Amino acid sequence: MSLTLSKIRSAGRKVRQKLKLWATLMKWRIPFLKTISQPLASGTLGSSTSGSFHLEILECERTLRVSSTFGMVLRISSKDELTNEPQSGSVVLRWVILQKEDNAQTEVPMGDFVVGSWTRPPRGKSLLIPVTAPVGLNGVYDVAIEVDLRDEAGKSLGTNCSLPRIFRKVKGQNAANASADFDYVDIYAKVDLEKDYWTVVGPATREAYEELGRGKAKQLLDFGMKPDAKVLDVGCGTGQLAEPLCNILSPKGAYYGTDLGAEAIAFCKKKFRLPNFHFLTNTMTGLPLKGILFDAIYLGSVFTHMYPKDIHAMLGELRRLLADTGFILVDAFVSPDVKDYVGSISMIHLNEANLHKSFQENGFTFEEAGVIPWNEHCRRVIFKLTASEISKKAEWKGPKSLSAILESRSAKV
Ligand SMILES: C[S@@+](CC[C@H](N)C(=O)[O-])C[C@H]1O[C@@H](n2cnc3c(N)ncnc32)[C@H](O)[C@@H]1O
Repeated sequence: MSLTLSKIRSAGRKVRQKLKLWATLMKWRIPFLKTISQPLASGTLGSSTSGSFHLEILECERTLRVSSTFGMVLRISSKDELTNEPQSGSVVLRWVILQKEDNAQTEVPMGDFVVGSWTRPPRGKSLLIPVTAPVGLNGVYDVAIEVDLRDEAGKSLGTNCSLPRIFRKVKGQNAANASADFDYVDIYAKVDLEKDYWTVVGPATREAYEELGRGKAKQLLDFGMKPDAKVLDVGCGTGQLAEPLCNILSPKGAYYGTDLGAEAIAFCKKKFRLPNFHFLTNTMTGLPLKGILFDAIYLGSVFTHMYPKDIHAMLGELRRLLADTGFILVDAFVSPDVKDYVGSISMIHLNEANLHKSFQENGFTFEEAGVIPWNEHCRRVIFKLTASEISKKAEWKGPKSLSAILESRSAKV
């Protein structure tokens, strides 16, 4: 009996040791083990009715971050040697945002991205395809990533097939790791906005850009913007918000878009030719407008690229231009942990208490109008600012009506 027990114990120990070894190997990601481990997802693609390629996702990094790349390992095997089947082509990732609202989930496709190439493996063999792909979204979302194959002519082999897909969370970048050599003015001067006016301000596709613009216009409406409002969009970029506002503002309303980038302003002037839509350049801390008070001011992803002292100065300008009954929506990355700020103008995370103080010192009361979770350290908050008592005492003596005396004559564009 005791002999049997000791045998059982020893066998148990051996199993435990093997499991531990296995877990260690998995942890250290020994590549050959990956190739024989269970795929994360698989599908059958191809033009023959039964499908001719088996496509598997063997590995995909767990944490994906905005503006970075991530690794994936794919495997293709082909079932037969049909010569009329494609022999090579491109590997495509299809990003789908998963949105949950009232317990229902909707899927928003965000575009296809070519991330590599494939060639048909001989019958009975398989081909491993390591992929390093950019995160195809600018924002934090729950996503599904689907993998498709295309032939040389760009035709999908996954049409009418169920593509292998995996689910991931996209998290925000840490400002400390964001690239330092980033300047919007330089970037606008280099890119061809006629070809692509969306990637430069964040979204990976035109559809995503338009969707975001509609969301921002809806936010303004939800907070009380009327069709005859005077709207100021500081850091308007290529006109993401201007686009939906063209159909929302009445001829009595007015839209002013300003930006640091002369090329962005020139692009907007050409694209939005309505008589009540105006575009002009501004400096980092100054807005070349006077004689007009705005009912709604929007700054979308602008304080995310400004240093605290410049934000403080800009807030003074915004108070000068805000009607006492108006409101401002502005987003910023805030954290209670950073000292003053962390990062550079490519991405700045601000100290939360200091930003609140800056709002107050410039005559604003503030509330959180929305929060987008960003990463482990900080939140992306949309603040709603309104004029406080203190600012009313400051008695700004500007005109109350739209006489629209623009200083834009002295502006660059
Ligand atoms: C991420 S883009 C967002 C553009 C636009 N608001 C949108 O949502 O598509 C940031 C924009 O802010 C502009 N910007 C940064 N600092 C600025 C400042 N102090 N005044 C005006 N624009 C600024 C940049 O030139 C750039 O166009």
